[in-house]
Amino acid sequence: MLTQVPEEEDIERVRGDVTALPLRDNNLDIIVMKQVLDYLEEAAQRKALVEVYRTLRENGQFILSALISPDSQVDEVTNELYTRRETIIGRVPIKKLIPNEELLKTWLQETGFRGIESVYRYDIPLSVEDFRTSFGLDAERTRALSELYGDILARDKQHVFRGGDFQGSPQLIEQGLIVRSAK
Ligand SMILES: C[S@@+](CC[C@H](N)C(=O)[O-])C[C@H]1O[C@@H](n2cnc3c(N)ncnc32)[C@H](O)[C@@H]1O
Repeated sequence: MLTQVPEEEDIERVRGDVTALPLRDNNLDIIVMKQVLDYLEEAAQRKALVEVYRTLRENGQFILSALISPDSQVDEVTNELYTRRETIIGRVPIKKLIPNEELLKTWLQETGFRGIESVYRYDIPLSVEDFRTSFGLDAERTRALSELYGDILARDKQHVFRGGDFQGSPQLIEQGLIVRSAK
């Protein structure tokens, strides 16, 4: 992402771990965090929110875009999907904890944020074919992922994933949420 920032712009680029930001306290006007939390273990997710809070100035705004479990009653299925899929893809070897909307807001509240408000819920349609091409999955891993999708769809009694086939490839429609809050 840092290499995408135009050289000529008067922008300071800082690289660091979101759980230990190399930035001083009470300093930033706005922080935007997009699709990062789900790469972290639960304790690190909470730590990242604490770091955002620490580095924001009073009344600073926090815009968070994150994957969510679509429905509280399928939390278990959702997290099994994410954990098993990461294992098949061989990407992030952690036990996933994708919060639902309520839990995500509780985390923000417990960190100290106020004015917590969901502003946009979006669909993320992801087919097995998307993963095959993005991660160069071989036939065995592609088959394992197709089986996982079939398994999840069979157990998703409320059809929150509204899954099915997309151009011949099994697909799940996952969800993300944008939440606005302030320090
Ligand atoms: C799905 S990408 C999102 C990138 C970008 N925000 C976007 O929306 O296009 C996830 C990003 O999280 C970053 N990431 C994962 N763990 C991190 C950590 N502990 N500290 C900082 N960044 C991390 C990865 O380097 C990656 O760039």
